[in-house]
Amino acid sequence: MKLVHGIDELRSLRAEWQAAGERVALVPTMGNLHAGHLSLVEQVRPVADRTVVSIFVNPLQFAPGEDFERYPRTLTEDMAQLEPLAPDVVFAPSVEAMYPRGYPIATNVVVNGLVERFCGEFRAGHFVGAATVVTILLNLVRPDVAIFGEKDYQQLLVFRTMARELHMPVEILSGPTVREDNGLAMSSRNRYLSAEERDRAAMLRRELLAAARALKRGVRDFRALETAARAHLVTAGFEPQYFDIVAPDLGPALPEDDDFVILAAAVLGAARLIDNIRLDDPALDA
Ligand code: PAF
Repeated sequence: MKLVHGIDELRSLRAEWQAAGERVALVPTMGNLHAGHLSLVEQVRPVADRTVVSIFVNPLQFAPGEDFERYPRTLTEDMAQLEPLAPDVVFAPSVEAMYPRGYPIATNVVVNGLVERFCGEFRAGHFVGAATVVTILLNLVRPDVAIFGEKDYQQLLVFRTMARELHMPVEILSGPTVREDNGLAMSSRNRYLSAEERDRAAMLRRELLAAARALKRGVRDFRALETAARAHLVTAGFEPQYFDIVAPDLGPALPEDDDFVILAAAVLGAARLIDNIRLDDPALDA
């Protein structure tokens, strides 16, 4: 496992792998790794000869007033966690290496129609920053496959659409959300929660499960389900930003449909939590 900070070094390793005809996987992260990230690394290992994990806290994707400055930067701990999985390269560029002329940069990758709602409504510029940095990372690493977590469902759709429409020669894979024992989706931002809030935070998952079970039973009054879930969350001290039942492509849910995704985001204490559920979630059968 090699720690690479420089773009030139990354490029020369990539050229060696190319010459050897090796298949490359990229796992983009912002570091502060948890079991969710590690599961993505495990998932791509069998489909590639070389694995690159990128660790870069990308200033472009933080809205003004968000946690860019205090976002946990834990490279030493991240390296220790990755050690047993032995990716070939941990690419951890500096902000100066990624944006040598400073930021914001002139080039923006905007996936119109997917970035305006849900997280995009509450995090100005977030998806443009995320899609732009992922484009840069894909251009630098030139992976055959890249993998992203399903917890960020909207982000995953943004990257899939971007890769398809821009004819990027990469296959986008996704990995299931990894959860704490209480059901809370793992996230680097969970560390902003107190122990008591961590327990309470699991309610977001319970509300998603309850609404998904209702949909599976055939309930189609979407607005009533959404309103009830938001009200429960408010009563428990959350500030819900959205709790919306939509089609898997984020279009409107229709009563005659039987495939939905429920997207949710809520602030609890100092943490902004997001999660989602599809109706094939194995927990719905438990
Ligand atoms: O999901 C994340 O951690 C980030 O948005 C990503 C994909 C690493 C881009 O900075």
